Order: sequence, then structure tokens, then C-alpha cells
Amino acid sequence: MNIFVLTGAGVSAESGLGTFRDKDGSGIWARFDPMKLATPEAFAKNPEDVHAFYNARRQNLIKAAPNAAHEALARLEAELTTRGGALTLVTQNIDDLHERAGSKSVIHMHGELLKARCALCDDVTAWRGDLGRSTECLACRRAGQMRPHVVWFGEMPLAMDEIAESIARADLFVAIGTSGAVYPAAGFVAAARRSGVATCEINLEPSDNAEWFDAARYGRASVEVPAWVEEVLAKVDARRAAPSA
Ligand code: OAD
Repeated sequence: MNIFVLTGAGVSAESGLGTFRDKDGSGIWARFDPMKLATPEAFAKNPEDVHAFYNARRQNLIKAAPNAAHEALARLEAELTTRGGALTLVTQNIDDLHERAGSKSVIHMHGELLKARCALCDDVTAWRGDLGRSTECLACRRAGQMRPHVVWFGEMPLAMDEIAESIARADLFVAIGTSGAVYPAAGFVAAARRSGVATCEINLEPSDNAEWFDAARYGRASVEVPAWVEEVLAKVDARRAAPSA
């Protein structure tokens, strides 16, 4: 079985990392204006504010730990592979909690907070400290244009061709912990359906595009994802055990 999983902020919520747009108004974008913090224009106009926002998020991330949902997805990857299947894990999250839980292959379509990029020479490097206007690029030695290696509003998400190909050849598309409010990721479920791929969402509540999913499980990711992974692996085992016609 070939499974495509798309994760969003809800998968990391129980690790203490905030979501962006929760219905109770506690999301990050209810407290901070994304247009002033997560656009190339904001970085050009107010780099100090942008750096302060991402520096604080980076330090929070370093203190956080993966939860049972991240761990179950790492297990799914390992166990599917030993059974001749495959998992494509695409995340909108800029945290590294999937990797810390043991996932070997993760596509970060919105970039990675623990990397920095030089806007002058494009060099990307691992980064755990703060960034500022005086930070020098380790590659070209110029200062002033080091930025978090994240995708901002108005920028192109990463690995889109690879993602489109993986969706088209999947047997099952599953969206976990994402509101379905931000494109292009919100459109992946429609692409899956056009390719005849079965679709399922796991979320605290119905997402904005809930009607596109064939199946749904609503509840906390730390509970629902491990239960779903158990069911999937049991199904794969049952198919393998069934005598072929
Ligand atoms: P959102 O904050 O938009 O949605 C998070 C979803 O997770 C909501 O539907 C919640 O109901 C759900 N949720 C919250 N806690 C949960 C839990 N414990 N278990 C399961 N689900 C839970 O986050 P994303 O959809 O990831 O982009 O947001 C997409 C993009 O918007 C982000 O990558 C970011 C943001 O702007 C950029 O910064 C470019």
C-alpha cells in the first residue's frame, strides 16, 4: 500500500507548538498579523520584527518534543516499508518533530525553522541560534540578508512537482491536523480525488474542505493517529495473508 500523508499544525499542537487558526481564536494568526511577519515585504520593511517572531518560535521548538502522532507516523513509514509499501510524508510544518520521532523521509513544503538561508547567495544551512540583521552568511560572508528557511505568503512552496507525482500514484491520501485554509496544500485532496485516490482526514473538527474526504476521524491527533496506524497495518497484513486468486 502506498500512502500519502499531509500534516499541518494540528499534529504538533499537543507538543506545545501553536496552531494558526483555531476556532476558539487562540491561533497564532489571531494574535500576530501574518502580513507584518510572514511575507517578503515585511522582511524588507521590518526585519527586526520578523527575526524576533521566528527567533522566539525557534527557541520554543528546540524545547518541544514529538508526541504520539509523530511517533505513530514514523512507525507507519518503517512498517509499511518492511511490508513492501511506502509512505510519502509531506508537512506544512516548519518544525522538525517528525524527524525527531524517527521519520526518515519528510518533505517540508513550507521550509524548516531550524535552517537559515542567505537571500543573497541562496546558501541554506542548519541554524539553532537567533538570526538578526548583523548575522553573516557562512558561505558568502555578507551580512544583513540571512532569513529563516521558511516559505512566506507570496512565495512558492517547495517540492511541488514531487508532491503532485506522489499524490497521483498513492492508494490513500490522508490529511492530518490541517484546517484546509491555505493553498496549495488545501487543494491536494481535490488532486487526489481526480486521480481516483481514496481520501481521509484526521482532525480535531471538520476542516474547511471536509466535503472532499471519503472518510474522517475527529479527535486529538495523539489518540486518532496511533489508532488509525494500527488499523492500516492490520489491513495491510490481512491483505498479505489472504490467498491470491
Ligand atoms: P491551522 O492552524 O490552519 O489548522 C490546524 C488544524 O488542526 C485546525 O483545523 C485544528 O482544528 C486542528 N487541530 C488543533 N489541535 C489539534 C489536535 N490536537 N489534533 C488534531 N487536530 C488538531 O494549521 P495548518 O492547516 O497547518 O503557513 O496551516 C497551514 C499553513 O497556514 C501553515 O503552514 C502556515 C499557516 O499560515 C505559512 O506560514 C506559510
